[in-house]
Amino acid sequence: MIHMAKTTLGKKVPMMGLPVVLVGAKVQGKVNFCTVAWATMIDDEPPRMAVVMGKERRTKDGIKENGTFSINLPGAGVVAATDYCGTHSGYQVDKTAVFDVFFGKTLTAPMARECPVNIELILEDIVEFQGTDMVVGEVEEVYVNEDCLSDGRPDMEKLELLMYLSPGGPYFTKGRTVAEAFKVGMDHRPR
Ligand SMILES: Cc1cc2nc3c(=O)[nH]c(=O)nc-3n(C[C@H](O)[C@H](O)[C@H](O)COP(=O)(O)O)c2cc1C
Repeated sequence: MIHMAKTTLGKKVPMMGLPVVLVGAKVQGKVNFCTVAWATMIDDEPPRMAVVMGKERRTKDGIKENGTFSINLPGAGVVAATDYCGTHSGYQVDKTAVFDVFFGKTLTAPMARECPVNIELILEDIVEFQGTDMVVGEVEEVYVNEDCLSDGRPDMEKLELLMYLSPGGPYFTKGRTVAEAFKVGMDHRPR
């Protein structure tokens, strides 16, 4: 057995490659988007997702106001707009014109046309922590750019979804494929 030397980084969140998303909501009639790296699936039946947001987020005010929101998955082409939405708050700037917006079934959750995947959600719960709130939603619909499909399935090469090395960056997209999920471990024999 090989013993790897370890060093410690301290009591803090570690570095992880995370998808970066744009959370959309309408706030007092205005469209607003905020960049979020702390996003996750919660369940698949019914489909539920959550985003973790700081206490002061204009987008969260809009989520509470309308009970709906969107999670938009940006591609590499909109990295600057994505960074802008994460460095400029709707409390200070008007983010209505950052993206070409469309609405779906809920009529109130704005979605960014430039993002190849858009998820429309209905607010289910807000779980409050000391410094953050976890906003939980049930997925109402998922929209995908037709030109990002191959044989009817979303194609990661075409989507070029943005990811972020937390904390601090940089942004990146999918790298080398390492192995097939749910297959590569089947014949693995633990020591
Ligand atoms: C790469 C990146 C990731 C971010 N991730 C989060 C996050 O997970 N949760 C959060 O609340 N804010 C996150 N932020 C910060 C918000 O996007 C930022 O505070 C934004 O201005 C909030 O906009 P709003 O007040 O208009 O909602 C992130 C910013 C960047 C640039």
